[in-house]
Amino acid sequence: MTPRCTARRSNVIVNTGAVVGHDCVIGDHAHIGPGAILCGEVVIGAESFVAASATIVPTRRVGARTVIAAGAVVVKDIPDDALAMGVPARCVVHRE
Ligand SMILES: CC(C)(COP(=O)(O)OP(=O)(O)OC[C@H]1O[C@@H](n2cnc3c(N)ncnc32)[C@H](O)[C@@H]1OP(=O)(O)O)[C@@H](O)C(=O)NCCC(=O)NCCS
Repeated sequence: MTPRCTARRSNVIVNTGAVVGHDCVIGDHAHIGPGAILCGEVVIGAESFVAASATIVPTRRVGARTVIAAGAVVVKDIPDDALAMGVPARCVVHRE
């Protein structure tokens, strides 16, 4: 993890090979999968899972309780309670 990153509370998992860029904020119980890349100023909501080798481009926000699928490239904000996959990532499930 690079400078000024914040794991908001605790129980955050950052897996092997994941990169967390500057000024990222990661919510409680979030899980950053192996090889995932959070570019600068990314926000990951609580209880979200960024799967293996996914990339979140700078300044994007991923909501709470959301899954970003393996290999996805997130170029837009993703809401709470979503499943997003693909390149560029699209929401395929969004629980209301
Ligand atoms: C997102 C994920 C949870 C979806 O799992 P699932 O609900 O079992 O999905 P399925 O395998 O039933 O696939 C459903 C559809 O999504 C597609 N899909 C699944 N994963 C995908 C991915 N990562 N990227 C793009 N499309 C994907 C499938 O091709 C399938 O498409 P179809 O309906 O057109 O056939 C899973 O693919 C994933 O990314 N898991 C993360 C694994 C990981 O990173 N593990 C590390 C643990 S530390």
